[in-house]
Amino acid sequence: MPSTPALSSIDDVLTLIRPSVRDEHAYVVGAPSECEVKLNQNESPYDLPAELKQELAEAFTHIDANRYPNEQPNELRDALAERDGVDPEGIIVGNGSNELTYTFGTAFLDPGTPVVMPRPMFSLYEKVARICNADLTPVPPRDDLSFDADAIKRAVVDTGAVMTVLTTPNNPTGLAMTMDEIEQIVRAAEGIVVVDEAYVEFNPAGSAADLLETYPNVVILRTLSKGMGLAGVRLGYMIARPELAHEIMKSRLPFMVDRFSEKIALALIQHDDLLSERVAALKQATQSLIAALEEMPGVEVVPSEANFCIFRTERDADALQADLAASGVLVRNMGGYPELPGYLRVSAGTEAENKAFLTALERSLARVDTA
Ligand SMILES: Cc1ncc(COP(=O)(O)O)c(C=O)c1O
Repeated sequence: MPSTPALSSIDDVLTLIRPSVRDEHAYVVGAPSECEVKLNQNESPYDLPAELKQELAEAFTHIDANRYPNEQPNELRDALAERDGVDPEGIIVGNGSNELTYTFGTAFLDPGTPVVMPRPMFSLYEKVARICNADLTPVPPRDDLSFDADAIKRAVVDTGAVMTVLTTPNNPTGLAMTMDEIEQIVRAAEGIVVVDEAYVEFNPAGSAADLLETYPNVVILRTLSKGMGLAGVRLGYMIARPELAHEIMKSRLPFMVDRFSEKIALALIQHDDLLSERVAALKQATQSLIAALEEMPGVEVVPSEANFCIFRTERDADALQADLAASGVLVRNMGGYPELPGYLRVSAGTEAENKAFLTALERSLARVDTA
């Protein structure tokens, strides 16, 4: 006769999960998949060219799927280093840059570690800080939602922040910091400053990677999900001084980048012209969206240096989002950020997708006006 198990209730098992994890919500975008025009996740509308997919399908037949990949995808790391003009030893390639965000948590954050993050910011960073029980100091934006660089610097100095995160251009606002603002913060900080450059390809101010030469506490974070259009493949990377990268490697899970993802990125990197063309089109598309939204009565839009923008109308954001979804257009409600009540975010798509969005929005707003 088997004895009674020591733990028989699932509720008792759940109490074993750390409270800082139980207090969180799982990251879910919750997109209705039937929407034709998907402009809700700042993705690129451009898939890999068909010929390239064909080449990759052939390459797949030569992959040793039974063998572990290297700890780091060395060929890809070298190619990224050459493209960006940095030391390959300072690069860690991750399973998306999100994975490296978690790695920063395990490498730098003990309970009570002081951390500074401007608001509103890509929510994953605050989540990692909360899960690690770090001591998070959020810094509100100025009235126009731009970064308050002086207040960030003050918070960094006053708290002795071990880690500060700057996402520029910022998701969710699309607004960027100047290089001078970034440098002032890096210079004042006694901790590391992570500069998340997920949208760097679209940013006229360029990259802060040059700061690495002067400042050992800078960590640049990049993704291949946006300008390079590989959100479905999951690749991102960080650039730091090699000594720092070697230490951060110790806190990572091994084998995070599989053999096939590396091949895909390597193949795409060869197509520099195509990538530049696509980025130029998306920059133009974002500015055209902003101009069109500015023209619409009752619509307020925030300028953007990324591949998306946020806007609000007099209508309730949930209702407007649902209305657009009913017209086949998916955008993201930003109302979850207390600083962004009523705001929706729309990513730049193809010309046809942007037109579909603007038409659906115009119709939706007109219907309410005449109701
Ligand atoms: C600021 C920022 N960092 C990182 C990411 C995610 O990048 P990845 O797809 O490489 O995990 C996003 C995605 O929206 C983002 O907006």
